[in-house]
Amino acid sequence: MKCTRMITDSITWVGGSDRRLALFENRYPVPCGASYNSYLITDEKNALLDTADAAVSGQFLENVTAALGEKPLHYLVVNHMEPDHCAGIGGLLSRYPDMKIVATAKALQMICQFFGVDVTGRAIPVKENDTLPLGVHTLRFYTAPMIHWPEVMFTYEEKEQLLFSADAFGSFGALGGRLWQDEYDLDSEWLPEARRYYANIVGKYGPQVQAVLKKLSDVSIRMICPLHGPIWRGDFDYLLNKYRLWSLCEPEDRAVCILYGSMYGYTANAADILANMLADKGIPVRVYDVSVTHLSTLIAEAFRCSHLVLAAPTYNNGIFPSMRSLLHELKELNLQNRTVGFVENGSWAPVCAKQMQALIGECKNMTQLTPVVTIRSALADDSLAQLEALAGAVIADF
Ligand code: FEO
Repeated sequence: MKCTRMITDSITWVGGSDRRLALFENRYPVPCGASYNSYLITDEKNALLDTADAAVSGQFLENVTAALGEKPLHYLVVNHMEPDHCAGIGGLLSRYPDMKIVATAKALQMICQFFGVDVTGRAIPVKENDTLPLGVHTLRFYTAPMIHWPEVMFTYEEKEQLLFSADAFGSFGALGGRLWQDEYDLDSEWLPEARRYYANIVGKYGPQVQAVLKKLSDVSIRMICPLHGPIWRGDFDYLLNKYRLWSLCEPEDRAVCILYGSMYGYTANAADILANMLADKGIPVRVYDVSVTHLSTLIAEAFRCSHLVLAAPTYNNGIFPSMRSLLHELKELNLQNRTVGFVENGSWAPVCAKQMQALIGECKNMTQLTPVVTIRSALADDSLAQLEALAGAVIADF
């Protein structure tokens, strides 16, 4: 049975939600599921904007068929060619033999790569600022490379002033009947999963996000329609402020995130004692065990917080592996503009602080706090004094 929702009199949401997916991109847990949004514009010429993931392709095709009724499908606009949005292309090509595919040249090339079909005769390649009249609606295309693949474009519908923004402004989470942002408590329901989605998937491409935000700054937008998560018909300042901070890699909150690895609980003990010292002074603090908290959550917290404390044992003459993986990911995602403290542990040769400092030193504009705390197996009077001094340095920075 069709499961659609009208966005305007002539634009219908025809996507689907998946609550059985264990790992998005086979990497990220999605305990709240995921939505794959697709939009149908009916006019003199009918246009579908993007398809959906294979997991919901049955529901998606039923939705499109029902929303079109007897009308033909003239255009499929492909804003993004990642498979979570393009699994329906083959089915639509067969079902609607007169349908043309509208996409960037790079996206058209990817269709051939993924599906082994040459769509040249059915393709309308578009470039920056090209337009496509549908009747009363007109589509205008803006390239948005690396948000989050190189072929991406945004589509703007001029009459109703809707921006179809591909992965940008999206979030994890199934929709479950709540299609609009004003049907969510943004801070508690939308923000944590949107931040985790942004930081892990788009986080590396801050300059590209900045470029497209600048390009669209004079465009009048009534709704933002992403490929994942709710559609925005208000709260634009809230949304754009988050995207500004994330894309500039500026912290959202003045807060401390203590990230620790611990084999037998001694480094964990130091992390918790440090957290108590900071909390006693009213400083917002969160503590995470890097071995049991998913990397994507740790990365999202690193994007949120102004201050990080990294605490880990020395392992094989290096950094405890879970911490080492986290630091490599943060570097690859271009984390910047943070203040960082260090706690190392080692029973006979503690060396991991220097190595953690070196990795953090490869990120831009990071302030490293002193002293570095060195624990020999378990906290003792001398290392506790160092920990108090590190807490003092953090407190002095607030
Ligand atoms: Fe939702 Fe980059 O795909």
